Amino acid sequence: MTALKLEHVVKRFGEFVSVQDVSLSIEPGERVALLGHNGAGKTTMMRMILGLTPLSSGRIEVLGSAPGSRQARRHTGFLPENVAFHGALTGREQLRHFARLKSVPARVADDLLERVGLGPAADRRIRTYSKGMRQRIGLAQALLGQPKLALLDEPTSGLDPVSRHDFYEIVHELSAAGTAVLLSSHALTELETSTDRIAILSRGRLVANDDLASLRRAAHLPIRVSVTTTDENVEEVAARLGGQRINGHSVELTCQPDEKVSLLGRITGLGEVIKDVDVIPASLEELYRYYSTSAGEKK
Ligand SMILES: Nc1ncnc2c1ncn2[C@@H]1O[C@H](COP(=O)(O)OP(=O)(O)O)[C@@H](O)[C@H]1O
Ligand SMILES: [Mg+2]
Repeated sequence: MTALKLEHVVKRFGEFVSVQDVSLSIEPGERVALLGHNGAGKTTMMRMILGLTPLSSGRIEVLGSAPGSRQARRHTGFLPENVAFHGALTGREQLRHFARLKSVPARVADDLLERVGLGPAADRRIRTYSKGMRQRIGLAQALLGQPKLALLDEPTSGLDPVSRHDFYEIVHELSAAGTAVLLSSHALTELETSTDRIAILSRGRLVANDDLASLRRAAHLPIRVSVTTTDENVEEVAARLGGQRINGHSVELTCQPDEKVSLLGRITGLGEVIKDVDVIPASLEELYRYYSTSAGEKK
């Protein structure tokens, strides 16, 4: 069964259209990143999926049921954008409290604390926790009851790279166990290797929805090639390749994806004077910009 299905979903606040005709499905075990600028409609979409706010039109199915239904709620985990905790409680007390609300045994809460790396800090008060530790409690809370669908709203904002890495490790385990994961973000680079699919929301519209490699191919953005040469030859190499000298020993070129192999052939054909070559594909930022502008929308 499809974990999540949105069909032509629209959300209006008065005259303002916050989510415009979005269709999107997520299968069990799939990790989908919902990318979008502030105000793109990410949180609104999640709130509709959770049944916290009604749709203006369209249809949402959560594990075959209506959003907010008993069946949907039972199997959905949610990490809100701004998690509020009782600072006076310890991590363990807080998570056991959430567990009780979900009729999950306290033992499961304790295990989850270990799993998100909070074991050693479980008996300290939450007000002494760092932002990263609070996010871990939030994540543990979202994982109570082994959800089949996890909605994580900007889960990594404010986390340092190590915490982010740990976070994606848990997301990976989740998906390996069959949970469908939808996570939103406005920070881009971290997602490159951590999700199966990228959905880009721009001003409420879904302007892209595919895996990274396909998005790259379809965007046809230029690739940068950076060539390192011996100091004496940098001018000559720049001239022969038609590139731009960047400093005393590097030349930068751009090419289309289908020209890459022949360009690399020309570079290595220059022989000894070439010391190194780096091929730099379009970054997620560049892709994001591409798909968010009208050029991408018309595709
Ligand atoms: N309750 C509301 N009333 C009016 N406008 C809203 C409401 N909730 C969200 N919006 C508007 O909808 C747009 C999308 O908001 P949101 O979903 O929070 O974006 P994101 O999570 O991508 O930053 C914003 O322009 C926001 O101001
Ligand atoms: Mg938001």
